[in-house]
Amino acid sequence: MSVHAAAESAPDGTPAAVSAAAACAASATAPGASAAAACAASATAPGAAAAGACAAGASGLTVAVVGLGYWGPNLVRNLYELPQVAAVWGCDLRQERREAIRRRFPATALTSSCEHVLADPAIDALIIATPISTHHDLAAAALRAGKHVFIEKPLAASSEEAAALIELATHAKLVLMPGHTFLYSPPVTLIRSFIESGDLGEVYFISSSRVNLGLHQQDVSVAWDLGPHDFSILRYWLDETPASVSALARSCILPTVPDVAFVDLEYASGAVAHAELSWLAPSKLRRTTIVGSRKMIVYDDTATEPVRIFDSGAALRDPTSFGEFRMTYRTGDILCPHVDAVEPLACELDDFCSAIIEGSMPRSSAQLGLEVIRTIEAVDASLARRGARVDIGQVSLSA
Ligand SMILES: NC(=O)c1ccc[n+]([C@@H]2O[C@H](COP(=O)([O-])OP(=O)(O)OC[C@H]3O[C@@H](n4cnc5c(N)ncnc54)[C@H](O)[C@@H]3O)[C@@H](O)[C@H]2O)c1
Repeated sequence: MSVHAAAESAPDGTPAAVSAAAACAASATAPGASAAAACAASATAPGAAAAGACAAGASGLTVAVVGLGYWGPNLVRNLYELPQVAAVWGCDLRQERREAIRRRFPATALTSSCEHVLADPAIDALIIATPISTHHDLAAAALRAGKHVFIEKPLAASSEEAAALIELATHAKLVLMPGHTFLYSPPVTLIRSFIESGDLGEVYFISSSRVNLGLHQQDVSVAWDLGPHDFSILRYWLDETPASVSALARSCILPTVPDVAFVDLEYASGAVAHAELSWLAPSKLRRTTIVGSRKMIVYDDTATEPVRIFDSGAALRDPTSFGEFRMTYRTGDILCPHVDAVEPLACELDDFCSAIIEGSMPRSSAQLGLEVIRTIEAVDASLARRGARVDIGQVSLSA
């Protein structure tokens, strides 16, 4: 919190009389630098700059979080830790949510009106943490107003909307980044480097369970709510979009909102994956098994040792006589590598700021966000065809 100039919080519903310029003077050198340093792994892709470097970065960015419900306060908290951020705004239609932010982060400028945020030239970027159905319209308005945009997962409510946002951002040379937080989770990045190095061998299959009791959403299915986590992780690990998807789901509590889904994914490389997604389970599971030709990994996001690497496998032995069939099984050491204790959200927002200031491509790119949405749309298409296998290439942008 010390990063920030003490801004006056205005009465509810009106933008605070925050001089963004004054707040910006507060600093690029404030504490909180440690979080950013820990996240230095951001994926800078030369020649693939997401947007032009932002002059505002020199004095610190002014960032507005739109949507202060369940997730928004986490974004506000992390912004206060980032040295690149000089001032934070909060915007929510509901007074009680603005009050909650005022109590925890008194320096935050608060408003009920997104128009106020869009009209203020001192605000460099918007972070959108509102319900999915509102993502496109809010983000499109922000991009048209010249603001960089970070949108909580998923990027939009359809691939058509996502593609339109990408076009707007590209044309305006602004950063558009979906919030796929797990791409910044230390266990996930560790596993990616393990796969990339070849230590795991060929990836045979991946199986994940993301289940717990609640929070039931009323407007989107469990595939749209929890699916983006697994589909973005799979995309990041395997470096490919699934070729086809088949799914089974049931609406157990709300009649038209599936709260459990079993999704099978096939990849051109030969890898297959299964994701179990549910808001209805007696206990919380965040467990993924990755089976490779050389080793196997169990990633349990709820465990104190989240990554365990098993030197285990099976192989067909060379036959010594005609018709012989003999297997060898290997159960070797189990390694629990050290995993950095950094908050993924801090790394993700650091990557967003770097994209704005340096023009780098964020690891959670808009294109990846679009591919995640196409995967979810393929899930919906499969459900509409009673679990038939759907080729993702056949799901049109207007599906
Ligand atoms: N990355 C993650 O791990 C993670 C976790 C939870 C939620 N999310 C995402 O965050 C987003 C929000 O989810 P949530 O659970 O916080 O929802 P929520 O319903 O708790 O909060 C949304 C807030 O947005 C406000 N709002 C809606 N329209 C608005 C507008 N036009 N202007 C200003 N405020 C507006 C609402 O009043 C509400 O307070 C979703 O996209 C969700 O998928 C991400």
